[in-house]
Amino acid sequence: MERLVDFLADFLALDTCGAFVRLLLINHKTTTSMSKKIAIYYGTMTGNSEGLANSTFDKIKAEGGDVSLHNLVDVAPEELATNAPNAIFVVSTWGDGEPPADAEGFFEKLSTNNVDLSALKHAVFGLGDSNYEQFNKFAIALDERLIALGSKPIKKVTTADVDFENTYPSWESEVRATFGA
Ligand SMILES: Cc1cc2nc3c(=O)[nH]c(=O)nc-3n(C[C@H](O)[C@H](O)[C@H](O)COP(=O)(O)O)c2cc1C
Repeated sequence: MERLVDFLADFLALDTCGAFVRLLLINHKTTTSMSKKIAIYYGTMTGNSEGLANSTFDKIKAEGGDVSLHNLVDVAPEELATNAPNAIFVVSTWGDGEPPADAEGFFEKLSTNNVDLSALKHAVFGLGDSNYEQFNKFAIALDERLIALGSKPIKKVTTADVDFENTYPSWESEVRATFGA
């Protein structure tokens, strides 16, 4: 009998412990999913950046993630601070190291505006062509400006070449894992 009581006591203690662990796990899951709100921004001329941004958006959305997608032509710098605490930028470089035409207005404002981005974390994937002297200049300048405004890069700016379709998937996986998305 004494052994049975001991067994039940152990069993109940274990069960209580199990319930506690389950509560911790549920709480952790809730906290994690709340922290993975992501905004994806793209700047494009011929659609390459848009295509990559779209595919990341579709994947995160399909898995139930809290994600939004924005063409930089429609974004004001202040919105970077309010859209989501985690930001993915996929942008190309044109002309002689310039932003794509649609992203020029956004970057002009970001360069003169002192919006506080200290609550933001970001990652920048740049599309370019190493045959150009100003290789990926806009992606680099964007990353630098975001950092100057207080945003924290989760990794060094990535400067992809014409084989961007080969390099993007591993970048995307790493960034999604870091953001928990
Ligand atoms: C006229 C022209 C100018 C370009 N200028 C640059 C440049 O200065 N630096 C760079 O790294 N890539 C440059 N590129 C390459 C583009 O960034 C690259 O093709 C990119 O994949 C385009 O992506 P998008 O379709 O999202 O705009 C240039 C391409 C063209 C056609």
